[in-house]
Amino acid sequence: MTSLKIPMPLPVGATIGILGDGQLGRMLSQSAARLGFKVAIYGPDPASPAAEVSSLSFVGDYDDQAALARFAAVCDVISFEFENIPVSCLAYLKSLGAHIFPNPEALGVTQDRIAEKQFARSLGIETVEFAEINTASDLDKAIITIGLPALLKTRREGYDGKGQAWVKTPEDAALAFSALGDKPAILEAKADFVREISVIAARGQDGDIRVYPVGENHHRDGILSTTVAPAKVTQDQQAKAVSIGRQILDALDYVGVLAVELFVMNEGGLWLNEIAPRVHNTGHWTQDGCLCDQFEQHIRAICGWPLGDTYAHTKIEMTNLLGEAVLEAQILAGEPKARLYIYGKGAPKPGRKMGHVNRVMG
Ligand SMILES: Nc1ncnc2c1ncn2[C@@H]1O[C@H](COP(=O)(O)OP(=O)(O)OP(=O)(O)O)[C@@H](O)[C@H]1O
Ligand SMILES: [Mg+2]
Repeated sequence: MTSLKIPMPLPVGATIGILGDGQLGRMLSQSAARLGFKVAIYGPDPASPAAEVSSLSFVGDYDDQAALARFAAVCDVISFEFENIPVSCLAYLKSLGAHIFPNPEALGVTQDRIAEKQFARSLGIETVEFAEINTASDLDKAIITIGLPALLKTRREGYDGKGQAWVKTPEDAALAFSALGDKPAILEAKADFVREISVIAARGQDGDIRVYPVGENHHRDGILSTTVAPAKVTQDQQAKAVSIGRQILDALDYVGVLAVELFVMNEGGLWLNEIAPRVHNTGHWTQDGCLCDQFEQHIRAICGWPLGDTYAHTKIEMTNLLGEAVLEAQILAGEPKARLYIYGKGAPKPGRKMGHVNRVMG
C-alpha cells in the first residue's frame, strides 16, 4: 500500500480516500481537487453524488473486506463523511496499514448518543438529563426520573430527526419504544432552549485548532432548514462555544473538522446536543462566508497541511433545498447574492437534501 510510503504533509497529487458517498463526500472531493489531490470514494451507491465528481470510486458495503482492501490500496490517507460507518470497518482498514483521520475511537464515541453525552459530561460540558433504555420497562422507570415530556431517540444511526419519538404521557411509552423498533435507545429530558447554534471546529495533525464563528440553526419537521452565520450571540457565548469545540477536539485527539450542536438555554448557558465527527450541514455557510471553508479545512487537516483562516468576511444565510425545492434551481440561480450547490441526486423525495443555497445577507 502506498499509504506507508508517503510522509505527511501529503504532496499535491496524493490520493485521499473518503468513506461515504453523499453530498458531504461530493463537496470534500471538490475542495480536494482544487488543492490538487485525487479522491477515491467508497460507498454502497454506484451512482452517488460523491463518485460523480471524484477520480476513483469503489462500490461496496462497509463490511466487504475485499472491496475495502482494494480501496485502501490506492489511498494515501482515509477519512469519512458519514458517522454511521461501523468502527469495525475502520479497524480493518487500520489493520491494513491505512492512515485514518479522524481516529476510529473518536467515531466510536460520537456515533453512540449515550457515550457522547457521558463524554461531554466528563469534560464538564452540560447536557440534558438522560437515561439508557434497552427495554420497555427501562423506559417506564426512566420517565419517572427524567420527567415528561421527554424525547426517545435510537442510540445509534439517527439523522435528520429520524429514529425519534416524543413521550408526552406514560401511556405513550410502549408505543414510542416499539415505533423505534425496540432498539437500544436514550431518553432525553426536553431542553427548553431559546435557540440552537452550532460550532464548526478543526484540529490539525500538529494540534493546531481553528474554530469558526457560530451559526444559528432553524429546523422544520426535525430537518435543518436554515443556518444564519455568524449568529447574533454574546461574546461570552462565542467564547464558550469555542472553548467547548477546543475541549472536545483535544480530548478526542481529533484530526479534521467536527461540528458541535448546542442549545442556548434561557440563562445563557450552552448545552451540548450532539457531536458530528465530520463536516456538517450547519457549516455549509462557510463556503461563501469564510476564506477557508469547512471542506477545504478538513482536507488540509487530514493531509497534514496548515489549517486555513476561519475569519468570516461575509454574513450568510444557508437554506437547504429539500425535495422538490431543487426544481427551482434556475430561478434561484437568477437571484443576485445567491450561490447554488446542487448535489446531483436522483429523485427529489420529500425531505431529501437535494442541494443548498448560500445567500449573502445585508
Ligand atoms: N432533548 C431535546 N429537547 C428538545 N429538543 C430536542 C432535543 N433533542 C433534539 N431536539 C430537537 O430535535 C432536533 C434534531 O435532534 P438531533 O440533533 O438529536 O437529531 P438528528 O437526527 O441527529 O438530527 P441532525 O441529523 O439534523 O443533526 C434538534 O436540532 C432539536 O431541534
Ligand atoms: Mg442534530
